[in-house]
Amino acid sequence: MYKIVEKKALTKDIKMLAVEAPDVVFNAKAGNFFVVIPDEKGERIPLTIYDWNREKGILYMIFQEIGLSTIKLGKLNVGDNIYAVAGPFGKHFHSKKYGKVAVVGGGVGVPAIFPIARQLKQDGNKVFSIIGYRTKDLVILEEEMKSVSDELLLATNDGSAGQKGFVTDILKNLIESENRPDLVVAVGPVVMMKAVSELTKTYNVPTVVSLNAMMVDATGMCGGCRVTVGGEVKFACVDGPDFDGHKVDFNQLTSRLAAYKDEEKTSADHHCRLDKGIKEAFDGRK
Ligand code: NAD
Ligand code: FES
Repeated sequence: MYKIVEKKALTKDIKMLAVEAPDVVFNAKAGNFFVVIPDEKGERIPLTIYDWNREKGILYMIFQEIGLSTIKLGKLNVGDNIYAVAGPFGKHFHSKKYGKVAVVGGGVGVPAIFPIARQLKQDGNKVFSIIGYRTKDLVILEEEMKSVSDELLLATNDGSAGQKGFVTDILKNLIESENRPDLVVAVGPVVMMKAVSELTKTYNVPTVVSLNAMMVDATGMCGGCRVTVGGEVKFACVDGPDFDGHKVDFNQLTSRLAAYKDEEKTSADHHCRLDKGIKEAFDGRK
């Protein structure tokens, strides 16, 4: 059991939990992910690592209440126990001195980019962080990202905070400036990582993306997380989650992520009938 010691709502749907998980954090590194099972009957939720305190054995997780399991996780409070937290999994991000690096985070992808930006800065890179959200109310971790960046550039789709537009608009300007990055790292919705990779390919800027493929066991055995990279089948959980964005088949990833939408809806409807609190949480998201 993994005890929750702190809880914070970052937006209406996005929560941060601090959890006692010393066996996970003792070897955690930027770019790793871990798996959370909210309760005994819950499914496994893979989450890219956000932050940790190794001395205290605390893992900080940020997630969006988007489906049944994340809603269940978000209903837990300080003092409650999470049934299981396992990890770290996946290959960690390979940080070294590249020179200038642009780290690009979209929405709920920003927590995953935070430790990567921090590590790149510690390794002597000039870090340009570009973070994008749909609107001002969804902006998270702005101060945290500022603290690990040489320059922070913020965009919202509607212009209610920072510059109006997508992260790719800012990235294009950066690439065309005297601060052209030597590397781009992007984490966010698939459509954003695809757009970033298409942009950087035209400018020949190496690009790493972190793939949020569907996962089951997270240990390379089930094949659920398979992705195609450079024409080869890879498993995001053991070969990734980081891959060369210029080689990823994003269209296949998009269709695989949508494969179980009907089953997810059936399960959500079933639990809404059983649990009034879960129904209210789903209704609140509409
Ligand atoms: P969102 O739809 O609000 O988009 C966030 C930002 O991404 C936008 O504001 C915009 O700047 C950019 N963006 C979106 N579409 C774009 C496009 N077509 N072209 C260029 N830029 C575009 O994001 P959200 O709803 O917060 O979703 C975040 C996603 O991140 C989720 O799908 C989640 O699965 C994913 N995620 C991935 C990882 C990972 O490790 N890969 C980790 C956490 C979250
Ligand atoms: Fe099963 Fe990757 S999640 S092989």
